[in-house]
Amino acid sequence: MPRAIISPSVLASDFGQLSAECKRMIKDGAEWLHMDVMDGHFVPNITMGAPILASVHKGVPGIFMDCHMMVSEPERWIDDIADAGGAMYTFHFEATRNPSTVIDKIHKRNMKAGIAISPDTPSTAITDEVGQGADMLLVMTVYPGHGGQKFIDRCVPKVAELRARFPEKDIEVDGGVGPKTVGVCADAGSNVIVAGTAIFGAADPPAVIQELKDAVNT
Ligand code: DX5
Ligand code: ZN
Repeated sequence: MPRAIISPSVLASDFGQLSAECKRMIKDGAEWLHMDVMDGHFVPNITMGAPILASVHKGVPGIFMDCHMMVSEPERWIDDIADAGGAMYTFHFEATRNPSTVIDKIHKRNMKAGIAISPDTPSTAITDEVGQGADMLLVMTVYPGHGGQKFIDRCVPKVAELRARFPEKDIEVDGGVGPKTVGVCADAGSNVIVAGTAIFGAADPPAVIQELKDAVNT
């Protein structure tokens, strides 16, 4: 399995201190930062867009921005996110009819490409061609749209199904993941762990980051 990567969801941070919050996460042991971009259309919420990502990229040198694009037209934002310094561009399977075309366009802008499936989408929606073309597969463990939701256990088998088909790929879980739920995700084969509330709401964030990492590495 690929190495453990912890990607704190900055949606749970204090946006008034965004750069400082992001720097703090890296100092506390996180490898990536998970940036939840919502368009108010694909999901019923609006969060942040390219200008804010550009500020974070400027304020936190060398940061790997793991951009989770909960948007209806994933092709539309590729240039803006690349210009803002995005490193991973993860779009939703449910938002496009041409995932391979989207992946190609992301790669042309020198970003890694991720594809996400929402709780009601089966793992088989990701064909061998699309899965091999992507750099990362994201299994949502809540319905996209809000932080702080309850982990949906029935999504976990999809992680195992994808890990069996794609042994070398990064497989990310996102939504309601924390010390109590990371174990089943890691056992199923997830190596990229997103956590918002569980990290930012913790009394000791570095300890939680380490705990999440250990769950994957053991
Ligand atoms: C949900 C987002 C998640 C969310 C994770 O739509 O994609 O990244 O912010 O937050 P927690 O860990 O609090 O569920
Ligand atoms: Zn997310």
